[in-house]
Amino acid sequence: MGGTSRGIQNSNLLGSSTHRHYPVNLPPAVNSLTQQVIPWTSNKSHGEPWKSFRTRVQKPVLQPQTVRKYITPIAKVTQDFIERIEKIKDENNELPADFDNEIHKWALECIGRVALDARLGCLDDDLTPNSEPQKIIDAAKFALRNVAELELKAPYWRYIPTPLWSRYVRNMDFFVEICTKHIDAALVRLKNRKSINEADLSLVERILADEKDPKIAYILALDLILVGIDTISMAVCSILYQLATRTEEQEKVYYELKQILPDPSIPLTTKHVEQAVYTKAFIREVFRVYSTVIGNGRTLQADAVICGYQIPKGVQVVFPTLVTGNMEEWVKDAKSFKPERWLKEDVNDKLHPFASLPYGHGARMCLGRRFADLEMQVLLAKLIRNYKLEYHYEPLKYRVTFMYAPDGDLKFKLVKR
Ligand code: HEM
Repeated sequence: MGGTSRGIQNSNLLGSSTHRHYPVNLPPAVNSLTQQVIPWTSNKSHGEPWKSFRTRVQKPVLQPQTVRKYITPIAKVTQDFIERIEKIKDENNELPADFDNEIHKWALECIGRVALDARLGCLDDDLTPNSEPQKIIDAAKFALRNVAELELKAPYWRYIPTPLWSRYVRNMDFFVEICTKHIDAALVRLKNRKSINEADLSLVERILADEKDPKIAYILALDLILVGIDTISMAVCSILYQLATRTEEQEKVYYELKQILPDPSIPLTTKHVEQAVYTKAFIREVFRVYSTVIGNGRTLQADAVICGYQIPKGVQVVFPTLVTGNMEEWVKDAKSFKPERWLKEDVNDKLHPFASLPYGHGARMCLGRRFADLEMQVLLAKLIRNYKLEYHYEPLKYRVTFMYAPDGDLKFKLVKR
């Protein structure tokens, strides 16, 4: 399902960017910041306007050599997260029931550091529910978890401001306002900087270096923060749960990391991360079997023939990667959890290259995937190199809350290695 912007448009399963999260026709009664944002956001959701936006921003976000530069700041944030874990675990070395919220804090701190060059203070002690970082997390979660409700169900909000719509708009107003404050601060820092070292530029600064229109940088930063918290956090919840409940595979991850990092205190480099092939294969396998984003879709812009079926223009076509990733037809021995299948030496195993597409595919593929991969690899390298992860409660079921992840308290026990 290649996402070319000519034949198909992104549909609503994820493909989520801030400009798509404000639906197009605002009820007239809604008088809010949203309306100031709409003119330069909503019309950039699809087709040529989206393509033009994406073309202007995607280079620094997807270029491997640019992404690699962020390993040191991401490792620093992750080290602070590990120190926080040390503080919040109880006398039995167990993490609190709301550990998933701690993972969200780590994710926001990472994306704040990368996109805005700012430490947002998410990992500080005793953040209250009213603290700014917690409110950003709650707002981003609310936005992603309710967008499907508004976009896929009957759109009454187009005619009257329904309670959910009004709450959604208030939530987005708050999100935009708070993030704009940080983006403005990043812009002022850039202006005041005397000499600019290319390696030290934040993503927003990189965009502004080539792009004269500051709105583009605003939209990108908002997109990355909005989409870059809950997605990766739920993916990490799933990966840690699988590690904790698959002792044999966790030991393989540990021994690989121990070999790569005999001294766990040495600074992590991209070379270390590149060598951790089994760790990466483990993440890939979790995504195959339990894809965090269950699928994505496109609205056909022209009649098409797909697998022999004639599909008319306008139909929404869904690619359910959670389903295809688990089909024997495309993946040999699909029922077995086998990270090795992603390692090169295992070429004999049937594995269709499109069976598992956790980040989507084509021109609209996840914009944050390289950062997501790097952040997850750094987290595992630090956590699993230093701790054995255990889980001593009833098995958790997976549930879709827009993202697909284990549903329940992640009270992991951490045993120091
Ligand atoms: C492991 C975590 C993540 C997963 C599984 C994931 C998955 C996806 C998927 C499936 C799409 C839709 C792709 C398509 O339609 O073909 C998407 C889009 C997107 N993702 Fe991610 N994502 C993750 C993390 C992130 C992060 C950390 C960021 C930001 C730093 C991010 C930013 C975006 C953006 C901006 C889009 C919209 C792209 C566009 O429409 O042009 N994602 N993601």
